[in-house]
Amino acid sequence: MTHRLAVLISGSGTNLQAILDAIDNGSLDAHVALVLSNRADAGGLQRARRAGVDTAVIDHRDYSDRPAFDHAMIGELDARGADTVVLAGFMRILSSDFVRHYDGRLINIHPSLLPLHRGLHTHARALEAGDREHGCSIHFVTEELDGGPLIAQARLPILTNDTPETLSKRVQECEHGLYPEVLQWRAAGRLRLTTQGVALDGEILPPQGRQWAPAVSH
Ligand code: GRF
Repeated sequence: MTHRLAVLISGSGTNLQAILDAIDNGSLDAHVALVLSNRADAGGLQRARRAGVDTAVIDHRDYSDRPAFDHAMIGELDARGADTVVLAGFMRILSSDFVRHYDGRLINIHPSLLPLHRGLHTHARALEAGDREHGCSIHFVTEELDGGPLIAQARLPILTNDTPETLSKRVQECEHGLYPEVLQWRAAGRLRLTTQGVALDGEILPPQGRQWAPAVSH
């Protein structure tokens, strides 16, 4: 049966677009059962509608607290039978109930080489720290913010004239290549979270996950 993805967004949805494009060109054998946003004005909703994908908006401001909001999302996601829940620029912190409910099925992409630069403004922080490289990380989500077991990372050298904007652009190109690939591992049943760590094709990956070398322009 085709692997069913639910994609959670809050913003422009360029990662969602990369996922939809990969499905369209056959490199990702999955079905996006739902795109869910906490904001009605998220640009990614238009991308989903254009691709004929079902959308839902659950506005966190309509709920008294985080668990209530998260339970509303669980209801919607489970009704769609999502095999994997994909966070793609979803800007709300998830409750432990939500994270536990999707244990081993919840994946996030973060624009830094975790464990470096958890949280926001990662490109500026990588530059300020004088890092020599930067990139993005994909990980299973656990209750620790931006802290779950790493699946894969794409690394880029930081160039002397880089700004947060130039860096962000190159990191995004990496994200758009890496996320569909990782989701294809999942769709093909190759990727699992085990008690020993992240397993790809039955082998436990190193703590930093699979390292991925993108072909990007500088
Ligand atoms: C990406 O940089 C991702 O790493 C982070 O949020 C951003 C989402 O961008 N979690 P987009 O909405 O997919 O364009």
